[in-house]
Parts: sequence; structure tokens; C-alpha cells
Amino acid sequence: MRSLIDILDLSKEEIDDLIGTACDIMDHPEKYSEICKGKKLATLFYEPSTRTRLSFEAAMYELGGNCLGFSEANSSSAAKGESVSDTAIIVSNYADIIAMRHPKEGAPLVASMKASVPIINAGDGGHNHPTQTLTDLLTIYKECGTFDNLTVGLCGDLKFGRTVHSLIAALSRYTNVKFILISPDELKVPDYVKDQYLDPKNIEYMETEDLESVIPELDILYMTRVQRERFFNEADYIRLKNRYILTPQKLVTAKKTMKILHPLPRVNEISVSVDSDPRAVYFRQTLYGKFIRMALILKLLEVQ
Ligand code: NCD
Repeated sequence: MRSLIDILDLSKEEIDDLIGTACDIMDHPEKYSEICKGKKLATLFYEPSTRTRLSFEAAMYELGGNCLGFSEANSSSAAKGESVSDTAIIVSNYADIIAMRHPKEGAPLVASMKASVPIINAGDGGHNHPTQTLTDLLTIYKECGTFDNLTVGLCGDLKFGRTVHSLIAALSRYTNVKFILISPDELKVPDYVKDQYLDPKNIEYMETEDLESVIPELDILYMTRVQRERFFNEADYIRLKNRYILTPQKLVTAKKTMKILHPLPRVNEISVSVDSDPRAVYFRQTLYGKFIRMALILKLLEVQ
């Protein structure tokens, strides 16, 4: 039985297979519409979510399965003091697979040690978000056709943005990928991300505060929201929240082929006037998220 806690739990070949399955599902949804009949997915969400939870649930329904779960800690026994380990043991009796989001880093890993069904990390604190990364990888594959030789700009809250950490880990395995890390000094990528994924492989990266000066170099611009809920102090959030706002003017010098991704939700960091730019792929990205989660459910349930 396999869980998905960290994106590197999957080999590059397994990611290729998941992308292949997701593409096949997109082309032939009818082949898959009953494949999980009788199976249940539990979504245990101790933190807010729209895309991740609903795309997991839509994914399971489109595979012919069913869903159960909770969408806030207050409506579960966590409010009475139950541990994630106990919850994982119990929900293993009710569901065949569990997607868990939790504000504490490592909570899905702890759950996976006690659960008797696969656990999927649907976001743990400011740490990791492997299924968003699978979504991002499918988006890059569909929109750019390759993972190699890309210059990837990550912009915004690179400290608390868990999707950024998992995406750097995943992309660091491909050939000649270069990262440009664009953030205020206070929101730089944590050292452990550089120590684990970038430095050992001598991957080229630069850190800058200035989006406009680097935008012409980018093949991908991955925008992120400033993660208000992880700040200790509201004044710092207010000071930093509007540091980057992508506008049509700022895109004038960008490549015509550049793709703009965002895990969403967007707050202010991308002006709505960018939405109609052909380079903006963040809404399509949310649809890719459903298909890659369908592929992941099939893999972890070993029905494919
Ligand atoms: C992200 C998350 O939860 O980390 N959202 C998502 O799952 N698409 C990004 C965010 O909340 O900013």
C-alpha cells in the first residue's frame, strides 16, 4: 500500500505514467466512469480549501466512486481533541483512500503511519502540497510540452507557499531547469529547500526582489499569494501583501510563449485584466488538477 506524502515519493517514471493516464482520461472519460465503483474517498480537511477538496471529490465521482469527509476541523472530532492518528485509524474503516489537509507540517505523514488505507497529503502547513505539484506538472506538460530546459520564475510568498516547495523538488529532477526566485527578503525560499533540492545538484538559481527585470527570461511565471494565515503578525502581512501585482503592462517584455501559472486562490497578485492574456493558464490549471487526481486515485487504489 502506497501513500503520497511528498512529491519525491513518486519517481520520474511514475509521474510520467500519471500524466499519461490523466491525458487518456481527458481523451476517453467514458473508459473510466465506473472503474472505482464501490470505492470511497474520504476528504479530511482541517484547513480551508476549494479546488483541492472539490477536485478530489469530483475526481472520485467521475471514476464512479463515492466520497465522504469533513471540510473543517470544527465539524470533526478534532474539536474534541482527537489526534490525527486516531482519526486515520477510524476513517480507514470507512474509506478506501484518504486525502488529508492539515495546518500542521507532517500531520499527513503521521496519519499514514497508522492508517490502513493510502493517505494523500493535500497540503500540510507551510511544508508540502504534492498533488498541487502534480497539477502543475500536468499543466506544464500540456502547455509547454517539456520539463527540460525551462527557466521557471516563482514569485510571491516563497517562504510559506507549500506549493512552491513541492514544485522546486519536482522540477529539480529534470535537465537544465533554472529557477528565478522572486520575493521580498522576508519571504525567501527556506534554506532547507535549497539545501535539499538545489545545492546538491548544482542547479542554477538566482534570488531577486524585482519581477520586472527578470520577466523577459522566463518560460514559466508561477505566481503565489502571500499566505496570510501563516503570518505571526498582521502588520507584516499588510506590508507585504501587495508587493507583486502582475498587470498587462508588466507582461509587455515577457516572452509570447511564457505561461503564467498560479495554484490559486488569487488575492491581488494577478490583475483580472491579465485573465484574457493567452499566456494565462491558471484557470485551465484547475481543470488539469481534477484529471491528475483521478490518475493518482487509480494508482494508489491499484486499479490501474
Ligand atoms: C494552495 C494551497 O492550499 O497551498 N491552494 C491550492 O491548493 N490550490 C495555494 C494557496 O492557498 O495559496
